[in-house]
Amino acid sequence: MRFSKNIASLVPSATLAISARAKKMSAAGESVINLSAGEPSFLTPDVAIEGGLEYVRSGKAGYPPTPGIPGLRNAVASYVNRTTAHAGVDPSNVLVSAGVKQALFNACFCLFEKGDEVLVPSPYWPTYLATLELAGATPVVVPTSWEDGFRLDVSTLERLRTPSTRGLFLNSPSNPSGDVYDRDLMAEIAAWAGANDVWIISDEIYRRLYYEGESAPSIFDVPHESERVLHLDGISKAFSMPGWRIGYAVAPVEVIQKMSALQSQTTSGAAGPSQHAAAAVLSSPQRDDIVRDFRDILRRRRDTAVEALSGVDGLELRVPAGAIYLYVRLTETSDSMSVAEQLLVQEGVATIPGEPFGTPGFLRLNYAVSDEELADGLARIKTFFS
Ligand SMILES: Cc1ncc(COP(=O)(O)O)c(C=O)c1O
Repeated sequence: MRFSKNIASLVPSATLAISARAKKMSAAGESVINLSAGEPSFLTPDVAIEGGLEYVRSGKAGYPPTPGIPGLRNAVASYVNRTTAHAGVDPSNVLVSAGVKQALFNACFCLFEKGDEVLVPSPYWPTYLATLELAGATPVVVPTSWEDGFRLDVSTLERLRTPSTRGLFLNSPSNPSGDVYDRDLMAEIAAWAGANDVWIISDEIYRRLYYEGESAPSIFDVPHESERVLHLDGISKAFSMPGWRIGYAVAPVEVIQKMSALQSQTTSGAAGPSQHAAAAVLSSPQRDDIVRDFRDILRRRRDTAVEALSGVDGLELRVPAGAIYLYVRLTETSDSMSVAEQLLVQEGVATIPGEPFGTPGFLRLNYAVSDEELADGLARIKTFFS
């Protein structure tokens, strides 16, 4: 069959593929511990369930406004204003989409095109490269090193900058490493981007899953060129609601209008019940307690995982300050693809190898699974490496 050039270099999401394989093995009766998926295992908060159900029971099923229902755009604006140093977000600066993935797609299609270079620090979430390529733009990977905590260095950005550089992706806390940029580094990056007319696309989906405070430093916590900053976040991680598919972008009004126009011709926006559920949780007085409770449990699980794997021959790790992953370095081989395959086949533990994140020689483990699964998975990993 002949397919279009649009998708000539498209590869399916490695994370979703491995997770789907683990689920299939489980369904076939095999004993599999799935540490591959990028999702927390908590149940949807009650307040969100109620918000969604109330709307469903109302029987209303009209198309929601393309950029999002007013209740959710308002809730996002006040959530961002209350949880960052930025006080100026208006609901008109918010676009609600079916997950951050759709918001990201809209952003890349509206801002970048053939000939544009966009800097992507490694290790990176693979979707950044795939989406930029779909938009015809050229991702330029920014190298970092494990020894320096994958810290982004502004002098490297400057070295890679060309007249075609149009954008820079940030993802702090990071998927896959869990590393967090401190406020000084954020400020330095924002100043560099502002001085060079470079768009910052700051994916802050793990911002609230930060173990050293209430919130990891946001691009909105430092002085920035607001005409060229696009912030992405959603409810998939901090509120453990990935299947509801709600994410959002915060950006200048003109950009939101263009992204909304694109969305009007593709999906017409996110599903109504999900938007009502998201509005309920984001405007709830319990909002921050919900996040805090999840975070406390996740911190404990992170510490359990770090303790269990520290000192295991063949592995090296750091304590990540945010997100839901351990990014473990393999000291004996850089072929993490084979190691992940063997770990799945021999011990029934699904992880994601470092290759799709641009850093072979690592395994990403999601510790946001139940205590029992985590304990079992860690024991199997130890057996495998011993
Ligand atoms: C860095 C990052 N951004 C965005 C997403 C996707 O978020 P959503 O579920 O809102 O599409 C993920 C999911 O794994 C992620 O890790």
